[in-house]
Amino acid sequence: AKNVGILAMEIYFPPTFVQQEALEAHDGASKGKYTIGLGQDCLAFCTEVEDVISMSLTVVTSLLEKYKIDPKQIGRLEVGSETVIDKSKSIKTFLMQIFEKCGNTDIEGVDSTNACYGGTAALFNCVNWVESSSWDGRYGIVVCTDSAVYAEGPARPTGGAAAIAMLIGPDAPIAFESKLRGTHMSHVYDFYKPNLASEYPVVDGKLSQTCYLMALDTCYKYFCHKYEKLEGKQFSLSDADYFVFHSPYNKLVQKSFARLLFNDFLRNASSVDDIAKEKLGPFSTLTGDESYQSRDLEKASQQVSKPLYDAKVQPTTLIPKQVGNMYTASLYAAFASLLHNKNSELAGKRVILFSYGSGLTATLFSLRLHEGQHPFSLSNIATVMGVAGKLKSRHEFPPEKFVETMKLMEHRYGAKDFVTSKDCSLLSPGTYYLTEVDSMYRRFYARK
Ligand code: ACO
Repeated sequence: AKNVGILAMEIYFPPTFVQQEALEAHDGASKGKYTIGLGQDCLAFCTEVEDVISMSLTVVTSLLEKYKIDPKQIGRLEVGSETVIDKSKSIKTFLMQIFEKCGNTDIEGVDSTNACYGGTAALFNCVNWVESSSWDGRYGIVVCTDSAVYAEGPARPTGGAAAIAMLIGPDAPIAFESKLRGTHMSHVYDFYKPNLASEYPVVDGKLSQTCYLMALDTCYKYFCHKYEKLEGKQFSLSDADYFVFHSPYNKLVQKSFARLLFNDFLRNASSVDDIAKEKLGPFSTLTGDESYQSRDLEKASQQVSKPLYDAKVQPTTLIPKQVGNMYTASLYAAFASLLHNKNSELAGKRVILFSYGSGLTATLFSLRLHEGQHPFSLSNIATVMGVAGKLKSRHEFPPEKFVETMKLMEHRYGAKDFVTSKDCSLLSPGTYYLTEVDSMYRRFYARK
């Protein structure tokens, strides 16, 4: 199989959201902390009728319907998620309801979990399957689904929720350059979920920021090394058209891109202009550790990378800023933003993606885009996702109602024997919602 990659995409996020500006005031944070400091606009969240299973049912059903894919044509289905509902039964098995109805149970794949990286692991598995000798000619589907919720405190505004489904196969408009990959994996406790009675993670915010940037540096180093071996020349930011980052909050994305420019400067790669050389010069002697702590370096590199950021990163930031951190779906929601903003200009372009999951696992990888043929074309994918419409039809909640919902969900997490309000009035037609969890913890869903 050639040009294996993403043939089609669909995205779903809850229609319920809170404005970061309102949340900031409600939390007593200084004005601008969430909007400018973190760079976020809004935060989407699941109410009691939605969860990672309902969102994934919604997004997979919608993908199949909108691209007119017969469920029998699916031979592999993989889910990436870090929102654990049942510690043993995979989310994938819930999705089998869609396929069993059509008589297809011959579908490989289960869930992959490592913080925000599970979706990327699932995606690599699916692409590898299509490229392998066990491929049976059918499509794969990758689902990223998460609800990111934090305890009250500084991490709470970095929540969010969404599900993304991607159809995988050959001759894709979004093809993997599989040889161009750099991975870094390591044992750290920056963010993890040891308390199984709570949906909230234990998080060392500052450590997680540094781990993210260190992982980025290491992946970029390996990536550049492989590129140079393959192409016989240095890689620099000018060799790719867009850079897409896992986006816990936008400020970290700005810092990440600035960090890549600093890496180019240190390697003396050709893309760094004279102004950047002059501004970054004073920092060339910092040790690695010092460079992560230097506020001056952060400022200088963000300043010199700004024009390139506006061209190569800004078009990828819309959904993560509007929805928040979507954990496994965050990187792919950023990529969906690029398709939404630039779909008509993307043919022939190279896009670099950085996936980060705390704990930690990270990969930097490369995609090559082609216009593709209907229905698997870049422009049709953008049309099907309908990002602008979905953002516009949302319902704003005041912070008080958001906090109230978080409290209710704390009680509901891990609970049994309850029925939900079944109030699906805010959901659009076709959306799945949770109706009941019975005395055996079995979950039941209905479709609007
Ligand atoms: N106006 C403008 N900017 C402001 C204001 C203000 N009034 N107040 C603060 N800021 C800036 C700060 O200077 C800082 O910016 P900087 O990083 O450029 O210096 C930014 O806002 C955040 O302020 P901090 O004081 O650093 O924020 P705090 O430590 O309270 O929380 C954190 C931020 C650590 C990211 C927290 O939200 C968190 O723990 N989030 C979850 C962990 C996370 O997302 N980690 C990322 C990778 S791992 C993952 O994906 C889960």
